[in-house]
Amino acid sequence: MAAIDFRSDTVTMPSPEMRQAMVTAPLGDDVFGDDPTTNRLMEVAAARMGKDAATFVPSGTMGNLIGIAVNARSGQELIADADSHAFYYETAGAAAVCGVQIRPVATQAGIMSPQQVAENVRPRDDPHQPITAAITFENTHNRHGGIVWPLADLRAAGDAAHARGLKVHLDGARIFNAAVALGVEAAEIAACADTVTFCLSKGLACPVGSIFCGRAESVEEARRWRKRLGGGMRQVGVLAAAGLIALDHMVDRLAEDHANARTLAEGLAELPGVKCDLSRVQTNLVYFELERMPAPAFTDECTKHGLLGDWIGPQRVRFVTHYGIDAQDIQSALKICEEVLS
Ligand SMILES: Cc1ncc(COP(=O)(O)O)c(C=O)c1O
Repeated sequence: MAAIDFRSDTVTMPSPEMRQAMVTAPLGDDVFGDDPTTNRLMEVAAARMGKDAATFVPSGTMGNLIGIAVNARSGQELIADADSHAFYYETAGAAAVCGVQIRPVATQAGIMSPQQVAENVRPRDDPHQPITAAITFENTHNRHGGIVWPLADLRAAGDAAHARGLKVHLDGARIFNAAVALGVEAAEIAACADTVTFCLSKGLACPVGSIFCGRAESVEEARRWRKRLGGGMRQVGVLAAAGLIALDHMVDRLAEDHANARTLAEGLAELPGVKCDLSRVQTNLVYFELERMPAPAFTDECTKHGLLGDWIGPQRVRFVTHYGIDAQDIQSALKICEEVLS
């Protein structure tokens, strides 16, 4: 029996329709700008984000790095939530590659208030301090449980940043999960930002790729950064073809992943020694704490039963629902967890 793989939505396999499209896609050299399938995907993606232009990047991490590079200069500072992917999981790329210092801000559930934005902008007239050039928001917020920013909060934080002359980058790795949860277009979410990155390779089930979107001049600069970072990928239309299918067919179905995550979370919360904050289970990520067993021992034991998960802290586990998981898997997984914890 195949394992039930809750480690991440990055483990998703492309659909048969995607594989077919990848075989037949018309191709060209995307570094020269003449891959027709990629160009088509960039038009569609930019429109979905409400931006002028877009460029294909190999990963969400590179998209965020480029977002930092085009919005801040070496020696400047970027504000980010202390649990953001950009600060926590991107190997200090901002510092190592862009010379940009990240100022981490502890937030309530990943939501930065306008007051927090204002308080963390440095005074421009003090030569001792770096210039605060930019800020990044993450939506949905991974380490905070896949929570969705209420649109009004996102707008208020974006407005507070823009009012102080900051550029805003949105890490929208899972922006479509947020859009589906809120019942809005992704462009309404991305409207708070100058630049946005979203991932094709997570819940949208593409094998590879993310897309960076923004104004035409930001995307032009992004393409130069992409080349510098070694991310210019020639006949990338083989990947873009899957992206076109994803934007047409994989967005609405994310509601299924959210429903599965909710059932999973509710079932876990009833197991002895499990604490799961159901208020944070808003999309496809389920985080929970184990009171009686270390998380690594729990995930090791689950693996032996064919259930793969990710431990995030000594007592903390993350399970992720996605295109490769159905309602029956949720019931089977709950049985395994019950057995492992008993
Ligand atoms: C919120 C968030 N941003 C960015 C990324 C980076 O994406 P990638 O793994 O494609 O580099 C991830 C990956 O899990 C993520 O969760």
